[in-house]
Amino acid sequence: MYIVPSSTAYNVSRRLANILSCNISGVIRKRFPDNEMYLRVNENLNDEDVIIIGNTRSDQDIIEYLLLLDAVKEESPRSLIAVIPFFGYARQHMRYNNGEPISSKVFTQAINNYADKIISVELHNEQTLKYSKIPFINIKIINPIYNYFRDKKIDYVISPDDGGYERARILGSKLGIPAYYIDKKRIDSKTVKMELPDEDYNGKNILLLDDIISTGGTIIKATKLLRENNANKIYACAIHGVFALNSNERIEKYVDELTVTDTIETKYSNITVADDIASSLKDKIKV
Ligand code: R5P
Repeated sequence: MYIVPSSTAYNVSRRLANILSCNISGVIRKRFPDNEMYLRVNENLNDEDVIIIGNTRSDQDIIEYLLLLDAVKEESPRSLIAVIPFFGYARQHMRYNNGEPISSKVFTQAINNYADKIISVELHNEQTLKYSKIPFINIKIINPIYNYFRDKKIDYVISPDDGGYERARILGSKLGIPAYYIDKKRIDSKTVKMELPDEDYNGKNILLLDDIISTGGTIIKATKLLRENNANKIYACAIHGVFALNSNERIEKYVDELTVTDTIETKYSNITVADDIASSLKDKIKV
């Protein structure tokens, strides 16, 4: 079995290769003079079980992932599993206005042309799964977050919106502490109103848990509310650290600690999703 890593997922690929005791294929990458991407998978993958790992955060990441899929498929592998720890373009999982594409469908269907199975982590919306004709597994991450925070004396887990409450509730119950969510209402395209539940936050250590941090607006607003209510330590944690517009630098000024997983590799990736991906691969490695 071989793992073929995209340039966005070296760490998680190495961790997964260790867990599964399999090889990592080399990939030669360069740019043509006109800046188009060139790559070449440096391994004979004929009749091998192959896992391609990479996230699709940027347009460039998507091109690289598609080129890897084609490069591997041309080798006639025995099986091909597409592992996409961070599935970008997933926010547009439906049409909000006429004339819009459904971007999560576009990419899912493109992968369907190559892979036998797709594995991703905490998709923005499970509607994306329905666009796939091949098995598509969406892994929920709880245990590695629990292991990371279990000794940090957290008093409450709080989701910044009701959509993330189930994740907070499950983690809270594992940690043996209450979980809440912030009432978040969008007033207009620029204004979001957030209201904390009526609890005692004085001197409490809070874990703010979200699926994704992008501009950081949500986490910063939630942190400010908690500070106004005299919370003690505030740990901000998300599965995916997108950190648009370098929001990590702003968030760090407000929170005591910022932690994300390695679905997107950043200096805050203190939690790995490799074990969970390995378990889902081991469930049925043959496709
Ligand atoms: C909202 O539905 C999500 O769960 C996140 O709270 C949101 O996408 C975070 O975005 P930002 O960091 O830009 O506030």
